[in-house]
Amino acid sequence: MNKPVFSKSFTQQESIPEAGIERAVEVLRSGRLHRYNVAAGETAEATLLEREYAAWQGRRYCLACTSGGYALQVALRAAGLERGEPVLSNAFTLAPVPGAIDNAGGRPVLIETDADYCVDLDHLEQMMQSSGARFFMLSHMRGHIADMRAITALCEIHGVALIEDCAHTMGARFDGVRSGNFGKVACFSTQTYKHMNSGEGGLLVTDDDEIIARAIIYSGSYMLYERHGTLPDLAVFDEIRLDTPNYSGRMDNLRAAILRAQLPLLEQNCARWNERYRALEARLSQNSRIRLPVRPTGEDFVGSSLQFRVDALGGERAPEFVAACAARGVELKWFGGAEPHGFTSRYDSWRYIAEKQHLPQTLEVLATTFDLRIPLTFDLDDMVLIGDIIGDEVDTLLAD
Ligand SMILES: Cc1ncc(COP(=O)(O)O)c(C=O)c1O
Repeated sequence: MNKPVFSKSFTQQESIPEAGIERAVEVLRSGRLHRYNVAAGETAEATLLEREYAAWQGRRYCLACTSGGYALQVALRAAGLERGEPVLSNAFTLAPVPGAIDNAGGRPVLIETDADYCVDLDHLEQMMQSSGARFFMLSHMRGHIADMRAITALCEIHGVALIEDCAHTMGARFDGVRSGNFGKVACFSTQTYKHMNSGEGGLLVTDDDEIIARAIIYSGSYMLYERHGTLPDLAVFDEIRLDTPNYSGRMDNLRAAILRAQLPLLEQNCARWNERYRALEARLSQNSRIRLPVRPTGEDFVGSSLQFRVDALGGERAPEFVAACAARGVELKWFGGAEPHGFTSRYDSWRYIAEKQHLPQTLEVLATTFDLRIPLTFDLDDMVLIGDIIGDEVDTLLAD
């Protein structure tokens, strides 16, 4: 009997909403793509996006810039990171996160992962005590939000400033509070595979007057910062404008126009991701060899990807399992490989981090963890088929 094969692409996004396409065409026709190039009486798309995103997020200020990674490094600089300072962050995250710390002149100090892909709170506390770090860049990796009550309490006790990497949690909440509203600054990515898609792009949000003023100037505002969408009192700029370098990383009006049209659909899209996640989760949970993450109480996540473990396979057989699923059209990523591959890399492959850390718990979790994207171009039947294929391949391999 022929085994069913899944034939849709795991990297196919939905198209940009028509309103965004129309607005983008208008921007193209105007020729005014640069955010500071405005006709008399006009407000730039980038400026409008900043206002609208800040209002949606529930934060005073928003800066639109070139990428999530750019926003992260600017966040650290604007929050006062000094060269050579340690910055705590998750060992289980994507390469742009330690990269942003390095870019801002910091030294990444990595925290263990728990069995449910959140930062390990005991290790975090230990490292807050021993590292002397003043900053914690918490990556809500793959949408897993750790206990934010515990994290904010730890930050408070140890005098650590929290910077949230919300690349995978735009639209998510913890205890009813939007992810991105817990720390001093938060950063979002609008790269193609994220919850809003402008190809590349980043958003930084904060309530802090000085942080936003510095971030705006870093992002390449020249002395045109008054044209930004959300601004503190202009006197704040007078204090810092000549001491803050321009690290050009502006968002343009074309991408801003595309994003503005997606924002009104975001809430509804988050619900659509979750429907798909739940359908796949339900299917996978029928297989006792598959371990699904337990989501913390209080977490209201966005299921745009799913992670699971098959401990019985062991790390050695993981590549075989990935290949077997791929042969049936199901694209899995494996974070456990010693060699970085595609988008994924394990923390010990970031060799530029001078202080070597051995994180056995993270290695153990990642060795048998698989990850898959859930694009909105998949429907609920697709999720059932994907779940069946994964379960089937687990059973086939373990029956050998
Ligand atoms: C967890 C995480 N943080 C940050 C980023 C950086 O975003 P960008 O690609 O927009 O620089 C990414 C991008 O993939 C990511 O996955």
